[in-house]
Amino acid sequence: MKMEFLQILRKSATSPQNRRRVSSISPNRLFSSHQIHSHPPPPPYPASFGIAFDIDGVILRGDTPIGGSPQALKRLYDDSGTLRIPYVFLTNGGGVPESKRAMELSKLLSIHISPSQVIQGHSPFKQLAKRFENELIIAVGKGEPVSVMSEYGFKNVLSIDEYASYFEHIDPLRHYKNWMNQQAGCENSSSREMAMRNDPCSQRVQAVFIVSDSVDWSRDIQAFLYLNIVLCDILSTGGLPGRKISSQPPLYFASDDLSYQGLFPTERLGMGAFRIALESIYNRMYPNVLEYTSYGKPNPSVFRNAENALVQVVPSSMNHCINGQYPFKTLYMIGDNPSVDIRGAKQAGHPWFSILTRSGVFKGKENHTIYAADLVVDTVEEAMDYILRKETCQSGRST
Ligand code: G3P
Ligand code: MG
Repeated sequence: MKMEFLQILRKSATSPQNRRRVSSISPNRLFSSHQIHSHPPPPPYPASFGIAFDIDGVILRGDTPIGGSPQALKRLYDDSGTLRIPYVFLTNGGGVPESKRAMELSKLLSIHISPSQVIQGHSPFKQLAKRFENELIIAVGKGEPVSVMSEYGFKNVLSIDEYASYFEHIDPLRHYKNWMNQQAGCENSSSREMAMRNDPCSQRVQAVFIVSDSVDWSRDIQAFLYLNIVLCDILSTGGLPGRKISSQPPLYFASDDLSYQGLFPTERLGMGAFRIALESIYNRMYPNVLEYTSYGKPNPSVFRNAENALVQVVPSSMNHCINGQYPFKTLYMIGDNPSVDIRGAKQAGHPWFSILTRSGVFKGKENHTIYAADLVVDTVEEAMDYILRKETCQSGRST
């Protein structure tokens, strides 16, 4: 599965078609702030376009709105606060259920955002809920990984911290980690009760889900080793730590970002970096290579899911114009990471149009040399200027 996915990515990145696309980007498609003078008025209905916003490095850095994002997003609503242009957030981040993330974003950006507008790296895990519904699975990562998986319908979930706590000597450094001791067991008491009834030590772990960035691994090498050793134990023994090596249960990563922007001036290590570390150690220690599946952008299926989500959020005032037809001529992906957001939109093909901002991972003057976007701007606000101007003109109505 891993090989298949990597092959798709590799093929797509090096295909003559994509090379042609890269080299055909002309510099005059770059869009800079001095070209923008005023906000165009709202486009007429029906809008035949939708927008997918990356979050980190485009809308927020940490919890701080950037690039005029609150103002940019406000333009997607009418004066009464009703949505008039369909849009979603398409992020590789996560760690809390979509409903909670929607509430957090609504508060930070002062607009109403519904859970159906939030697609996170781990959102596709929902599709695996039936398969692992009552099986013991381990959820790894910051925030509330157990709540995320429980909300998707997984009924027998333990966080890796909690799971590890059932094995007395699994982590020789545990007693030095006060923060880890406090965290274990406080997230989801019903999962814990179920696990205790069923004795997790004797149950086979059926799958491991890396829901969000593993806590503290980039800040604290000990935490990193702890998580990897526990994972290696689970994975190399067919889900029964301490027993003999057997086949590996499935391992799923919500995304494979090597890095992301965050609040710090330079990029921070992401889930992909954690994956590389885990894979390297695992492959050095055990006879079989680590097998895994990674979700998230740039996987084309994520963009297809976003299209479906966008169709669902088309404002009800536009429904009569759609008549059961696919409504979009153009879907804009606004992202800051060329190898994730832009590469993904380009691989997804029509009707995606990629816009690269300079507010996050990408900071170049011109376009990215490998994953060239259809348009490069400084901020999300400039991207919105471009989109609304273009869509308003194309409609043939006067501005
Ligand atoms: O952890 C967050 C990061 O990996 C990516 O977030 O919103 O840029 O896809 P985003
Ligand atoms: Mg980003």
